[in-house]
Amino acid sequence: MYANPSLVLHSDDIAPGQFNWKSPSNLAIIKYWGKHGVQLPQNPSISLTLENAFTQTILAYKPKESKEEGISLEFSFHGEPNEAFKQKIVTYLESLLPILPFLNQLDLTIQSGNSFPHSSGIASSASSMSALALCLCSLEDELFKSLQEDTEFDQKASYLARLGSGSACRSIYSKMALWGETEQAGGSSNLYAIPQEENIHEVFHNFHDDILIVSQAEKSVSSRAGHALMENNSYAAPRYQQANDRLQQLMVALKEGDVNTFGQIAEDEALTLHALMMTSQPSYLLLQPNTLQMINKLRTYRQDTGNPIFFSLDAGPNLHVLYPESVIHEVRPFIEGELVPLCEEGLWISDWVGEGPEQL
Ligand code: PMV
Repeated sequence: MYANPSLVLHSDDIAPGQFNWKSPSNLAIIKYWGKHGVQLPQNPSISLTLENAFTQTILAYKPKESKEEGISLEFSFHGEPNEAFKQKIVTYLESLLPILPFLNQLDLTIQSGNSFPHSSGIASSASSMSALALCLCSLEDELFKSLQEDTEFDQKASYLARLGSGSACRSIYSKMALWGETEQAGGSSNLYAIPQEENIHEVFHNFHDDILIVSQAEKSVSSRAGHALMENNSYAAPRYQQANDRLQQLMVALKEGDVNTFGQIAEDEALTLHALMMTSQPSYLLLQPNTLQMINKLRTYRQDTGNPIFFSLDAGPNLHVLYPESVIHEVRPFIEGELVPLCEEGLWISDWVGEGPEQL
């Protein structure tokens, strides 16, 4: 949809420059699990945009010195060259050449870093790919003045982020974002996410999402492999139907400020995601004993106190603890006293629904 052969530079009289974006991670409440075609989702998903778990990326550019074809990139992560990450980014930028052909005409330098501890077990692809996509859109707009409208800019950034990592397309927007075509939301698309801030009750505007690190180890099965295993999963078709049904319920709860229905759906979705992993062929399990202990403790605490505290999970063993700002003084002692001792090295991140990416 964005292929554009006219985005080429006609002179190398371009002043060097740079762009600096900070972009957050996000937590899906309705999960995206299963894809087709070029990064297209099998079902619509909706997520909370986080605030404290973010990537900061600086993209610097100048006219290419050599006449060689192809992407010219220097890359560093937390100040150190990183060949594995660099290769992934070169492959990604090459795949974008039909959309951003001028990338072939520049020497690029990318410096990137995460706010959260390296390999803390937090999926960083959403924050890193969205930060890079935002830098690329700033660069395009600087060179061609082609993304002057905010909505156009955000939509293209979301589209480009999706091509790097599906879930990254939702990180472009403040508060909450929806990705995937659905009758529930006008303007929704499989190609990019759309903002949801205006459709949600204010109780969700500063909802907490504390991330409890059960393991810092890298996942044994990547998300890419996990998505692929959905193709032969016998629960795939009912799962995609279920995601659509739950989305409908969730959108009502979000509008009405119905925290209990929100929490119930968040938990059901998290466990469904992991059930799909367990029922893949071959089957695999990313939950750890401490994840289950935390879930049991959280449910007992909720039953005993009536406090609205819920959990979610990403594709890993770490627990996301969700609760409204109004109960922070009651639930924090429970989290710190009962759950944090089950974290690896006591590591956890206090996070909440945030304002979305920021250009620095
Ligand atoms: O964006 P990917 O391809 O890494 O997939 C991530 C999918 C989940 O994080 C497990 C769920 C989601 O919707 O974010």
